[in-house]
Amino acid sequence: MKTRNLYIVTYGCQMNVYDSTCLEASMRKRGWNLAESQEGADFIFLNTCSIREKAARRVIGHLKRLKALKLKNPALILGVGGCVAEQEGRKLLDEVPWLNLVVGPGRLSEIPLLVENLTSDMPPIVLSGQAPLAQPEPPAQPGPALDSGQRDLSDFEEIDPRPAPIGSFLTIMTGCDNYCAYCVVPYLRGPERSRPREEVLAEARNLVSRGSVELTLLGQNVNSYGRAGHRGGEDFVDLLTEVSKIPNLLRLRFTTSHPKDFPPALVGLFGKLPSLCEHLHLPLQAGSDRILAAMGRRYDKNRYLSLVSALREACPDLALSTDVIVGFPGETEEEFLQTVDLLETVRFDFIFSFKYSDRPMTKANSLPGKIEENEKQRRLTHLQAVQKTITLEKHQALIGQSREVLVEGFGRKAGQLSGRTRDLKLVNFDGPASLMGRLATVTILEAWPVSLIGQLSSDRPSAPQNLN
Ligand code: 5AD
Ligand code: SF4
Repeated sequence: MKTRNLYIVTYGCQMNVYDSTCLEASMRKRGWNLAESQEGADFIFLNTCSIREKAARRVIGHLKRLKALKLKNPALILGVGGCVAEQEGRKLLDEVPWLNLVVGPGRLSEIPLLVENLTSDMPPIVLSGQAPLAQPEPPAQPGPALDSGQRDLSDFEEIDPRPAPIGSFLTIMTGCDNYCAYCVVPYLRGPERSRPREEVLAEARNLVSRGSVELTLLGQNVNSYGRAGHRGGEDFVDLLTEVSKIPNLLRLRFTTSHPKDFPPALVGLFGKLPSLCEHLHLPLQAGSDRILAAMGRRYDKNRYLSLVSALREACPDLALSTDVIVGFPGETEEEFLQTVDLLETVRFDFIFSFKYSDRPMTKANSLPGKIEENEKQRRLTHLQAVQKTITLEKHQALIGQSREVLVEGFGRKAGQLSGRTRDLKLVNFDGPASLMGRLATVTILEAWPVSLIGQLSSDRPSAPQNLN
């Protein structure tokens, strides 16, 4: 039988990257190959993001551009997954009638079988919501269950003899129960579901045995992993501790954490687990208590600041990053300036900042006091300028210092390697390709707003080794 080729385009968050990896592995197992370009594909799958309107519109634009390809090759199967698929469902077919498959993130694992039995002349298939559980056994107590969108344990034992990436993502839980007023995720990704601990550990070990030296545990709110009657009864602190013990795992990270769910035991792991890197992404969203309450974040400025102090006490070298939204409905100039003030107080290493964007179904969508687009842009530009100075100052403070860099790719210039420090700073430096996937000791020479330039130290680069 002719081998068929798959082409996946991933938009949005790291969880989508992980989902795409799962789909790719599952399709390969069924004999599919990866196409080098969209033109060479029998199945094109767009794994999409709907967190802000702009992200969702980009996907529609891409789908419209694919019409030409579909006309040239009518047998091509075109699928959309991720949050745009979940949000728009059948409506997508009105705008993009040449689509064959619309599959929400909770039904991802059904795609391989569907695609194999689908021909482009069949009516399109639309699947949303959560698939029936992959394992019939009910959870011991009501609460998180195996997410059938993930691969199951047996998959990891046999699939993918290929090397794993130097740094791999690993989704440990999906969905979200927090319903922040601006956020569409709980409506599209469903309630929180934690993957069984043994399954996560097996996958982590598998990735490390195939060559990953860095793992990032993923979830909308990883800190609530296993809460409310998880099968194994283990919580996130235990999971992190167990994963960190895997031999040959050099670096461990996790994202995203909700500040309201950050127990002292988790704070205490920083600086204690040798592989746990000195970086934490801790979304702030706003600096005004009134706006934080309106967002439904369930912490105030002081609680956030106390958490930052506790973290820095546990681990003085901890780098912090955050997410901030400007122009939430009703946000006054003074409230916006409180966010700017908080950035100056905390001095994050870097931030992701967004203009508030109306999302369907959310509470904020129907709030009064929407801020004009150009006013939101003005606030964003101001905030980003303040942060740019802070980031640059932090980078400049590193000049002359030596840092451990995990080499993960090549820089733009010939002979240049690229990697990250444990605190997630991007460093480019000249060095031999043989350092790929290894730790190098690099002296920082130059600081730029998003990266650093370094020089490989004359001492021998450290070989990958288990630091635990
Ligand atoms: N508008 C703007 N930003 C948003 N985010 C989530 N929803 C919205 C929205 N409606 C941002 C938050 C979140 C990040 C992933 O995206 O800052 O932490
Ligand atoms: Fe969205 Fe809030 Fe859940 Fe994060 S915690 S995914 S912002 S609802």
